[in-house]
Amino acid sequence: MVPSNKDPEKKIESLREKIRHHEYLYYVIDNPEISDAEFDKLMRQLKDLEAEHPALITPDSPTQRVGGKPREGFVKVPHSSPMLSLDNTYSEEELRDWERRVHELSGHSDVDYVCELKLDGMSLALIYEDGKLVRGITRGDGSVGEDVTLNVRTVRSVPLSIPKEKLRKAGIPANFEVRGELLMPLASFKKMNEEREAKGLSVFANPRNATAGTVRQLESKVTAERRLDYFTYMLLENGRTYFDRHSKTLDALDAAGFKVNQNRKLVHGIDEAWVFIQQWEAKRDSLPYEIDGIVIKVDRIALQDELGFTGKAPRWAIAYKYAARAGITKLEDIRVQVGRTGKLTPVAMLAPVLIGGTTVRNATLHNLDEIERLGVKIGDWVQVERGGDVIPKVVKVIDDKDHPRGHKIFHMPETCPVCGTQVVRTEGEVDYRCVNANCPAKLRETILHFASRGVMNIDGMGDALVNQLTERGLVKNVADIYKLTKADLLSLERMGDKSAQNILDEIEASKKLPLERVIYGLGIRMVGERTAQFLAEHFGSMEELEKAGVEELQNVNEVGPRIAESIVEFFSIAANRKLIERLRDAGLKLTGQKKQRGTKLAGKTFVLTGTLAHFTRDEARKMIEDAGGKVTGSVSKKTDYVVAGADAGSKLDKAKELGVNVIDEKEMKNIVVG
Ligand code: IVH
Repeated sequence: MVPSNKDPEKKIESLREKIRHHEYLYYVIDNPEISDAEFDKLMRQLKDLEAEHPALITPDSPTQRVGGKPREGFVKVPHSSPMLSLDNTYSEEELRDWERRVHELSGHSDVDYVCELKLDGMSLALIYEDGKLVRGITRGDGSVGEDVTLNVRTVRSVPLSIPKEKLRKAGIPANFEVRGELLMPLASFKKMNEEREAKGLSVFANPRNATAGTVRQLESKVTAERRLDYFTYMLLENGRTYFDRHSKTLDALDAAGFKVNQNRKLVHGIDEAWVFIQQWEAKRDSLPYEIDGIVIKVDRIALQDELGFTGKAPRWAIAYKYAARAGITKLEDIRVQVGRTGKLTPVAMLAPVLIGGTTVRNATLHNLDEIERLGVKIGDWVQVERGGDVIPKVVKVIDDKDHPRGHKIFHMPETCPVCGTQVVRTEGEVDYRCVNANCPAKLRETILHFASRGVMNIDGMGDALVNQLTERGLVKNVADIYKLTKADLLSLERMGDKSAQNILDEIEASKKLPLERVIYGLGIRMVGERTAQFLAEHFGSMEELEKAGVEELQNVNEVGPRIAESIVEFFSIAANRKLIERLRDAGLKLTGQKKQRGTKLAGKTFVLTGTLAHFTRDEARKMIEDAGGKVTGSVSKKTDYVVAGADAGSKLDKAKELGVNVIDEKEMKNIVVG
């Protein structure tokens, strides 16, 4: 509810302050005071008020985290002072050598150090003017980085503005720079990779690569979805360190509302630092993000200045790197696991080996190509690596006189090891898949996807419930959800009458959701939300979609041969067709409004680039799509038109190079409407 208000400006500012406070509690210190729903309500109130009074929207409003238009590339920006890297050490001895040098060069033998976790992400500088975030810059080559401000603004632990009073109290000037580490927490990493895999996209190898890939996204909306986190460890004014001790800097950043890693310690001498290093080596797996070592920094800035730099790294800091957690063991067998999308993953069955305090018994081999690349055979000795939460992986075959080679060659099974359905490998693809929607291995994940928010929205049907439902055989496919009775639900653990009724109500409500949700919910490989929408509009019913062949499917916007084949494959399985019949019988909406897209631009492909003056990208895309055209992201010889707005970059160059028609907005409008 939006209270009618005589002074909207005041109300807006007070809401913003409240929201900033709760963002801080939630994203920075991880100690929320209100529920997500209450938070969403505040945000909604602010959005509504801002919509009524657009003139009052400011870039530092919490509603503006995702607001900017995507741009062509990233502008290069020089750093206020070089962003340095660190020298590494790998043993206690090397670490003590480093301390000796510190003593010699500084003439002091009792030195305080700050020990910090070495976070495994990428370094990022943030510039604040008048307490407001104005720029985020990647490290780049250390002297010049890239302006990634729009994306950085989506990171919830980055304050968009800090009240003057707060800065004053923390002893920080109004214009300053912070530097720190941007990273992707393991939970986000896992989720992102699962989603990518479900869409048939390549997965990121580790959270560090995923962070770099995410912050360099052209669409800040994508960055926002991927939930990055940012920890600060440096404060500069005009390129120079501000406080006289590093420990003070960290405390001041803390006080100003930045996220500063709490796992830090001021120590006297390297002995104490060594204790810190060892403690964290044992505990590193308990962290929600990856670290690859400990950074030790001389606390007093005067001493830091005396010590200075060598080449690219300061003499006043050193990184102690933890050993890559690897072990050598025998590969006893290779088995095949089936994931939600039916992807078959070969898994190495290993002779148990202790790596970094954990016994590892299996490791992923990713796919058949990887097995061939490694040249691995069953019976080989292999090197296995593990990092944090990430599944251990086989990295190489050991081949020396102590480790004789194995002989047995691995073959992908021809049928799914769980349900026996014929396995399929689509032309040009790396992965083999089981395409039976009722395969029990895929069941749990399929049900979770179907019930999730944005799909069939069955609130309350999360991990815990789906586990019980599938384990007890109450739900064997998505249609079984609609057969559940109250008695079924009450027979489960931790289920009261009220919750059971709520779930039944949610299930009932889901029946009214439009056709595109059901299509999306089926979990057809490569059919995401958007494709499902196009399919629903084109065919207008599940029945028509089921009947469509590869050719016809390719008339649908954004559907190419691979997606078309995946859809045909799905409906060619009798069990999948039966499933749809049952959903129909349960009362789901399997028909919708056919949307006649124009045919004027049928077969024509457009690429949008640069900033358009009169339309947003979405509007332009919609216009083209409504007229039957297709909008794609990259320019090729097959592109019919490149619509170039202001500041168009590499795509425009490519269009010129390939001789593709380049038009402006006006011409686009003429082609579409005229
Ligand atoms: S201080 C001049 N502190 O490690 C000192 N760096 O290998 C600059 N890193 O580029 C860095 N955690 O991206 C510092 N607590 C920490 C760190 C840290 C991770 C990264 C940073 C740097 C790289 C050097």
